[in-house]
Amino acid sequence: MKIKVLHNNSARFEFIRRAAAEKNPAAEISGSVFAGGAMPAVINGSAPDVLIVDEATRGCLDAIESLSLVSPGIDIVLISADTSAEFLMHAMRSGVREVVPSNASHDALQAALTRLSQKRIKQTGSAAPEGKVFAFLSCKGGSGATFLAANFAYVLATEYGKRVALIDLNLQFGDAAMFVSESHPPSNLAELSQQIHRLDASLLAASMLEVAPNFFVLAAPDNPDHLTDVQREHIDTIVRLARLHYDFVVLDLPRSLNGVSLQVLDVADMIFPVMQLTLPFVRDGKRLLTIFRSLDYPRSKIKVIVNRYEKGGEFTLDDLEKAIDGRIAYVVPNSYRAAAASVNLGIPIAKANRNDPISKFLIEMGREFVPEETLAANGGWFSRIFSR
Ligand SMILES: Nc1ncnc2c1ncn2[C@@H]1O[C@H](COP(=O)(O)OP(=O)(O)OP(=O)(O)O)[C@@H](O)[C@H]1O
Ligand SMILES: [Mg+2]
Repeated sequence: MKIKVLHNNSARFEFIRRAAAEKNPAAEISGSVFAGGAMPAVINGSAPDVLIVDEATRGCLDAIESLSLVSPGIDIVLISADTSAEFLMHAMRSGVREVVPSNASHDALQAALTRLSQKRIKQTGSAAPEGKVFAFLSCKGGSGATFLAANFAYVLATEYGKRVALIDLNLQFGDAAMFVSESHPPSNLAELSQQIHRLDASLLAASMLEVAPNFFVLAAPDNPDHLTDVQREHIDTIVRLARLHYDFVVLDLPRSLNGVSLQVLDVADMIFPVMQLTLPFVRDGKRLLTIFRSLDYPRSKIKVIVNRYEKGGEFTLDDLEKAIDGRIAYVVPNSYRAAAASVNLGIPIAKANRNDPISKFLIEMGREFVPEETLAANGGWFSRIFSR
């Protein structure tokens, strides 16, 4: 969504921008100084969805009426010292949607903007399409959650042309970026949290490491001193913004559940707990699944992954399903050498070795989440995979 603010001074612009950005983190907000004159010329072809005019007076209303005739799709909000019934009537007749008093607080301004976006959603029938949020977490340290999250994200982007953001929420020991790249991330979650008041889509994009076309990683904080800069609300805002701009938002979560992880697990479309087929993993996996049940997550939201699977172990897949009283969604083969080489070099496994069983598994898993039309448009995943 594009929001344009016409104002007379930068402090007012900042006040309005902040209120609007908090409600619409995905919005592109720009400001121009407005000293009267013909409104369409001021808008200058930039076609915003919402126009906010600060310090609006009766003198503006003619220009606003002309603008709303030329561009009826723009929602116009006036901030005005004049709140007389006569001014309000005139403003509404000129095509204005909301008039907010000049002395309105931050909250009152936000409330007006919320009413406006609710009206827009009603009119257009829906909000902007949102990307899917996938949360990976290990049931016990070393299950392979980070490895699978990072490599699955890579495959969704490179095999299926989806825009994917991987966000490393292991605040203390996050290393997801290093699993898929040797480059140093331009920024990280802590630095982004410090600038949360100016967060928008371009700041988010600039903070991420571009690993491949369409694949971006927001790295974990690189310095433990900055952990406290990352608050729950920041993560919530970042994930909400990311899902508006990426087809898939893949989250690598820390092992221990805390307030932050529970909050993102609530909003996730799917949760992938990663375990292995040995008793300590199974024990911890069972505990984790019990927690999910107590949180009333639907079973369809939880997709258990058994990683590093090898036939002939003491504990079978059936045993595991009985133990967890649930289904296993995915079984990832063990491929120690290829996985270790990929991790050590910081090269995604599907790039280093497309024919490795793990790569083949990830490519097939990704296919489930990509609509058939996209596959057909790409010439068919099957032919693409096997023609290389
Ligand atoms: N399918 C696999 N086959 C062989 N090795 C694997 C496989 N999956 C992951 N690994 C190896 O397991 C190691 C540990 O994985 P990873 O760091 O992703 O675990 P984690 O669950 O994120 O652990 P932590 O809880 O410490 O964050 C990786 O370095 C990788 O080499
Ligand atoms: Mg990890």
